[in-house]
Amino acid sequence: MLTTNEIRTTFLEYFAGKGHQIVPSSSLVPRNDPTLLFTNAGMVQFKNVFTGQETRPYSRATTAQKVVRAGGKHNDLDNVGYTARHHTFFEMMGNFSFGDYFKPEAIELAWTLVTKNFGLPKDKLLVTVFSEDEDAAGLWRSIAGLDDSRIIRIPTSDNFWRMGDTGPCGPCSEIFFDHGPDVPGGPPGSPDEDGDRFVEIWNLVFMQYFEDPPGVRSPLPRPSIDTGLGLERFAAIMQGKRDNYDTDTFVALTQASADLTHQSVDGPFKASHRVVADHLRSTAFLIADGVLPSKDGRGYVLRRIMRRAMRHLHMMGTREPVFYKLLPVLIQQMGQAYPELVQGEALIRETMRGEEERFKAMLDRGLGLLAEETDKLTPGAALPGDVAFRLYDTFGFPLDLTQDALRGSGHPVDVEGFDAAMTVQRERARASWVGSGDTALETVWFEARDKFGASEFLGYSTEQADGEVQAVVVGNGFVKEAPVGAEVAVLLNQTPFYGESGGQAGDTGTLTANGLRIAVTDTQKKAGDLIVHYGTVTEGTLRPGQAVTATVDHDRRSAIRAHHSATHLLHEALRRKLGTHVAQKGSLNTPDRLRFDVSQPRPITAEELAEVEAEVNRLIRENSQVLTRSMTPEEAVAEGAMALFGEKYGDEVRVVSMGGADGNKSAWSIELCGGTHVNRTGDIGQFRITAENGVSAGVRRIEAVAGKAAETLSLANEQRLNQMAAMMKVSVADAPERLALLLEERRTMERQISQLQRQLAAGNAASAGVEDVGGVRLASRNVGDTAPRELKGLAETILKQGNADVVVLISTAGDKGSVVAAVAPETVEKVDAVALVRAASVAMGGKGGGGRRDMAQAGGPNAGAADAALTAVREALAGAA
Ligand code: ALA
Repeated sequence: MLTTNEIRTTFLEYFAGKGHQIVPSSSLVPRNDPTLLFTNAGMVQFKNVFTGQETRPYSRATTAQKVVRAGGKHNDLDNVGYTARHHTFFEMMGNFSFGDYFKPEAIELAWTLVTKNFGLPKDKLLVTVFSEDEDAAGLWRSIAGLDDSRIIRIPTSDNFWRMGDTGPCGPCSEIFFDHGPDVPGGPPGSPDEDGDRFVEIWNLVFMQYFEDPPGVRSPLPRPSIDTGLGLERFAAIMQGKRDNYDTDTFVALTQASADLTHQSVDGPFKASHRVVADHLRSTAFLIADGVLPSKDGRGYVLRRIMRRAMRHLHMMGTREPVFYKLLPVLIQQMGQAYPELVQGEALIRETMRGEEERFKAMLDRGLGLLAEETDKLTPGAALPGDVAFRLYDTFGFPLDLTQDALRGSGHPVDVEGFDAAMTVQRERARASWVGSGDTALETVWFEARDKFGASEFLGYSTEQADGEVQAVVVGNGFVKEAPVGAEVAVLLNQTPFYGESGGQAGDTGTLTANGLRIAVTDTQKKAGDLIVHYGTVTEGTLRPGQAVTATVDHDRRSAIRAHHSATHLLHEALRRKLGTHVAQKGSLNTPDRLRFDVSQPRPITAEELAEVEAEVNRLIRENSQVLTRSMTPEEAVAEGAMALFGEKYGDEVRVVSMGGADGNKSAWSIELCGGTHVNRTGDIGQFRITAENGVSAGVRRIEAVAGKAAETLSLANEQRLNQMAAMMKVSVADAPERLALLLEERRTMERQISQLQRQLAAGNAASAGVEDVGGVRLASRNVGDTAPRELKGLAETILKQGNADVVVLISTAGDKGSVVAAVAPETVEKVDAVALVRAASVAMGGKGGGGRRDMAQAGGPNAGAADAALTAVREALAGAA
């Protein structure tokens, strides 16, 4: 008996052997189709290849594609667990031809695989064809040797497959397996076709036309093939089972659920085990593809799936969170085929556990309320909408969980009443918001938030994705179209662009479609969780409803990522170096630099900074994986995460860890953070601190660069160093010693210069005329720029030469007047140096000076009055002598 894993491998290898490229499954979150909630068929990732918009290096491909059908159009959620073949998650096997082979080869390939390689008996098989497709009917006759009783013509759209309202389409042909007459049900096309006897196993689509506008078809230049085989139902047939849940993979999962809950697999909780098994798969695969439980969009579908499974586990008597304990069994079953489960194990496990902890806290009380309210109902009466809403709003019961809980009780839920209660609540929230006095522009975004719900951020896992334009705002209002040159604000339902928040700069890039281009220069968050792209229409006309490809500027985002991750390492390194009082006070991460403000009472020394820098670089070289998980704020704090005090966090938080486990912490750095980060610390490249300053009392600001910016800085510094060494004509290694020598030489020269200046000034002063003032020989002179501190020495030198009894010198250096008077010992009786300098000082706008009778010094602000000062000295001397 082939296991499900062996069937998958056999399928892929069969087509690989026939020249098909084995292409990995694409993400469950479609990157190239904004209208799809989840990837719902194998052809989704090839959509643009069929239309010719995209080319690939191969023209034949085969895949095992992850598919989720829950929420949105294909919603199987309600039936899952209660039927043989409904799943929220399943694998679709397929082979694809892009203008290569067509109908005959597709039929021949499928028939050979099913009958020869998998060995299904021909008499158990029958096929359907589109009633107008005689071609296909003829091929089944000639290739498979089926007679007309086994080729059923279906006239309806069931056998004409289309991708959407427009796009590639064509007739299709399906292979059915007959479980035999003891199973109720009729062949396809018959009134009781919905029974379990005839099971569709493989759909072959002959992509032949291109439809656009709706209803107008033209032949595709290169007809193509798209097929889909449901792995789970095929495995059931191959393993001789009638029920998908009896195949190997599901038996392992339902058995694990039975072991965990101590409730037998086939007992009264049979359906519950199946719900748990199915929902475990969609939960794990969705989280691995970046979806986290939330209040809106994909995250809310995931939450509904998770809570539904959790209620069933609860019903089976588990009191502690247990759902996550089943994850290892799933990984054992499917981890080899889907390595993303292994890589994402920590994130998946923590997200599951956190969600269940939150939900468990309310589940008992919610179920109590539900029981109380249903007791009041007459048989068959609907549960009032406001009760369902209270369960939703207060106890976290999604509507379908309440419906599931009432299943079998005979009580439906008043869905209209539920919707009405929801609307009332929304309006109340809005009314209180408008009252808070925000600007008109923000009112616009709040309106958009009401209408469209939160924007879905895809940028943790991709830098390019398609989004649908929900609204275009020019100025303060919505517009129906924006022409070339218009400055626009664009809202998409989903986007890889990061809206500025948490200090991380918003992304830039482009929004493009055929003939349309918007250059995005900034991205901001509005009304809490809308992501708004700001830019200019550079080509075409932008209208709401268009699908655009949003492409983030990769280099810039990479540079931002490096700075943001470096900030986390810097934060932790500072705390370790300076103490846990260090807390983040502000943060900025741009492509060029980072700025990080921390509480810290004194300046951080150069030595401390060097150590912090070295520590960050050590963590970068460690190159450990950067791990992102989702959990409750309480759990995050218990793990040692740094939470920002005073910051508001939602139900679940992203926790970013870097570096290996350390002491009682699960990683070296753990922070709550919604930003985008590098995959491994080594991706930061390098880290350099460039400045440290005070910004306000008790807050220090560190500026630094990481990645390419750090490299640019290092290179620029090296260039400067080379330049300096070249100027000194030495090698870089010898430059510091050489510079020290040059500085020493300079000091010596300065000393020599001042000595020479003094000698020169003395010579000048001496050579100046000595005049007789009242019988005293006065030598006086304005010595110009000579430094004031030189004056005393000069005056003494001149006095010693013996030609004068009194020497008065004025310097005008620095535009200030400084005066010194020296009096020979024989003259001191008659003349007071202090009186002379006071006279000079007053003349220059000063207030006099001080000293002794034989040597005094003073100054004044007005150097221009130096000559007048000398005159004043002469007069004072005349009076004294
Ligand atoms: N795209 C086809 C389907 O989903 C094969 O059935």
